[in-house]
This record gives sequence, structure tokens and C-alpha cells, in this order.
Amino acid sequence: MASFSILSAAARRLEGKVALITGGASGIGECTARLFSKHGAKVMIADIQDDLGLSVCKDLDEKSVSFVHCDVTNETHVMNAVDAAVAQFGKLDIMYNNAGIVGLAKPNILDNDKDEFEKIIRVNLVGAFLGTKQAARVMIPNRRGTIITTASVCSTIGGVASHTYTSSKHGVAGLTKNVAVELGQHGIRVNCVSPYLVATPLAKDFYKLDDEGVYGVYSNLKGAVLRPEDVAQAALYLGSDDSMYVSGHNLIVDGGFTIVNPGFCMFEQST
Ligand SMILES: NC(=O)c1ccc[n+]([C@@H]2O[C@H](COP(=O)([O-])OP(=O)(O)OC[C@H]3O[C@@H](n4cnc5c(N)ncnc54)[C@H](O)[C@@H]3O)[C@@H](O)[C@H]2O)c1
Repeated sequence: MASFSILSAAARRLEGKVALITGGASGIGECTARLFSKHGAKVMIADIQDDLGLSVCKDLDEKSVSFVHCDVTNETHVMNAVDAAVAQFGKLDIMYNNAGIVGLAKPNILDNDKDEFEKIIRVNLVGAFLGTKQAARVMIPNRRGTIITTASVCSTIGGVASHTYTSSKHGVAGLTKNVAVELGQHGIRVNCVSPYLVATPLAKDFYKLDDEGVYGVYSNLKGAVLRPEDVAQAALYLGSDDSMYVSGHNLIVDGGFTIVNPGFCMFEQST
């Protein structure tokens, strides 16, 4: 699992801040919970995997990292998660809507059914909407806060995941822009972070790959592998005061994958 070196007090970029992270029991969310905690934040992990979420808290500091059961498709759960963060830690500075599912890989649209389509949209897009709305409820009176959602490279291009997943992530990017415009008047920043392929349970299940298989998938940036830590670092930037004037932005963490068509390119493309 992710290891971050102990940081000096001066280097702790989230000292005094409170963060709520949905999907914080596994993968990118878990890694971000660990990094935020290292940087001095109090963290509330919200997830449907209770055992995993509780074990992350135990592994960190149970006084500053807590777990709340929360299905992001259920508005009451999301409201309770926000209220639990405020009740336990006094406020909410950072809302990270990270929970997501990818569903089944069915490459023929005729095999895609409406229930499956709606299920992914409910978690990835409706869940992000509910998290954003409930965070705004407590952030607006304080006139500050930062809301981050995990989108994906699928928020900007087509063809690398299912129709429903791609639709949900394009929706997240649109939601981010729209809410950033509304909440700017309250001093609240709203952004999303868009990773390329990361070797988490979600991606490995969908693409039927192990860690090595994921690392072997085409990357524009040679000699580096995208890890959950890299996405967590992007979320740290958007969650911290380092990004004070950044809002409505989709921070793409893809090593340049989405800006090149390797099949039609004047520069050498090694595999
Ligand atoms: N792994 C990748 O390649 C990749 C790339 C781009 C974007 N993403 C996005 O990153 C985010 C995190 O995914 P990950 O790769 O870390 O996968 P993961 O499966 O390791 O983590 C996802 C977490 O979300 C939780 N979750 C799922 N449904 C939920 C619900 N209804 N309510 C609350 N929690 C729920 C899961 O229990 C899990 O802990 C997702 O939004 C995903 O779409 C992942």
C-alpha cells in the first residue's frame, strides 16, 4: 500500500482541514485518505465496504480518521456522512466525491441494458451530485470550501470504457463546471481530477488485467507508471490552499494520453 514519508509540520499542506472522502476504503480514495492524513487533515471515510474502511482508520490514527457507512446513491446517507464529519471534526473544508463503479465490459450496445446503464450513472454521477449538494449545504454558510470529484480520462474522450461509464464521467465534468460557477459567489472551489488507467480493483476487474497487465497498457509517458499516489497528489493540490484560484478545472492525470493519437503522429512512438 501507499507509503508517504513523515512530513515536517511546515510541509503539512492540509493542517487544520477536515476532509470527507467517498469511496475512501479502497484504491484511489484509500490512498488519498492516507495522504490527506499525512498532511494533517482530519479525514472521514465514507464507503459501503465497512470492514475495509474501518481497517484504514485503524491503520492510521483513529482520533483523526473515521469511517461512516455511506451509499452515495442515497441522499440521506450522504447527508449523514457530511453531518458526521462536521459533528466529529467541527467543519468540512474538503469534499472528495471519489466513489465510483465501472460495471460490465459489454462492447456491443445491443447487449447493454437500461438497468445497468442507470446503475453506473446513479453511483458515478448522481452520487457526485449528492455529495456536491450536501457539501455545499455546510460550506455555503462558512463561505469557503473545496469540492473535488474523481472523473476520468473518459470525461474527455470516447472509446476506452463502456457507454455508461463514459457518459457518467462526461456528466461529472459538466457538473463540476456548472457548480463551480454557482458556488464561486460563496468562495467555494469546485474541480475534478481525471486519471488514466490505475491498477485498482475497479480497473483490474473491468479490463481483466493484473497489476503488470495494467502497467503494460499503452502510455504516452514512458518510464513512469500511473499509481493511486499520483492521483492522490492531484487531489491534495486541489484540496489545499496551493490551488486557491483554481476552480471549474478538470485536472487530467494521464501522462499526455488524451492529447495524442498514436496512430497518426509525427513523433516516434515506442511501445
Ligand atoms: N482505476 C482507474 O483506472 C480509474 C481511472 C479513472 C477514474 N477512476 C475513478 O476513480 C474512482 C475510484 O476508483 P478506484 O479505481 O480507486 O476503484 P476502487 O474499486 O478501488 O474504489 C472505489 C471505491 O468506491 C466505493 N463505492 C462503490 N460504490 C459505492 C457507493 N454506492 N457508495 C459509496 N462507495 C462506493 C467502493 O466500495 C470502493 O471502496 C472512481 O470514481 C473511478 O471511476 C478510476
